[in-house]
Amino acid sequence: MCPPEFYGIEYEINPWMNQERQVDHPEAVRQWEALRACLTDAGAEIELLEPVQGLPDLVFTANAAMVFGAQAILSRFRYPQRQGEEVYNARWLADDGFQVETLPEEMFFEGAGDALFCGETLLAGYRFRSDAPAIQHIGELIGRRVIPMELVDPYYYHLDTCFCPLEPGRAIYHAGALDDYGRQALALVVEELIEVDPEEAKRFACNAVVVDKVVVTNTGCPKLHAALSERGYDPRETPLDEFVKAGGSAKCLTLRLDGEDAGRGLG
Ligand code: ARG
Repeated sequence: MCPPEFYGIEYEINPWMNQERQVDHPEAVRQWEALRACLTDAGAEIELLEPVQGLPDLVFTANAAMVFGAQAILSRFRYPQRQGEEVYNARWLADDGFQVETLPEEMFFEGAGDALFCGETLLAGYRFRSDAPAIQHIGELIGRRVIPMELVDPYYYHLDTCFCPLEPGRAIYHAGALDDYGRQALALVVEELIEVDPEEAKRFACNAVVVDKVVVTNTGCPKLHAALSERGYDPRETPLDEFVKAGGSAKCLTLRLDGEDAGRGLG
């Protein structure tokens, strides 16, 4: 995670962001601290990336890279406003011992924001941020089956805003963010799909952090929480409205260094 010291709405690169609707900074700090406490309480160990002035979205560490074992496939951000983050992400990951892989220059890829394992299959979203050639390239790099899914709603511009693996064979998703092909492909790979209510999708219900049976989301997702409880999970909520203003929530604020192992059944 990366503390929100320099977090704010300094530009608009997705439909949630509006520079007229500024962040309440002290409140953002409180919400971020509460999320961190909630994850620690669930058993996660948190490592920190140092915040950098002028990089307000660096808090969204899900976008730093995709971690695969000892490899970190570094993001190449679509928007120039976030490209300055790449060097800090690369340095941190290398210092932490990862083998940092970079993609060819003409490809865009936004890390765990757009690439999530469910079982042994990598599900990857493209169009608004990551692009299809990058996803194909990553599949070859890691030698795993990759299912590309086109994202169709600009409000759900990263895969992690509309899809969250819980364990192999089971995931949460927002159907309206995918096209027919994507929904069909997903149904073939994931046996049990828990569809979120569109109103709860807007509360970033799908942007959940999974730590074993604990599933952490923003507030305002009661139907999803009920569905999770029924299936033996331990859903927990923590307010993240200040981050929704930038188009992010719980999952976006974290990067799993053990490589999305929740969805792979190892975490
Ligand atoms: N303002 C950030 C952006 O538009 C939010 C990123 C949210 N991250 C995520 N993994 N969905 O890039």
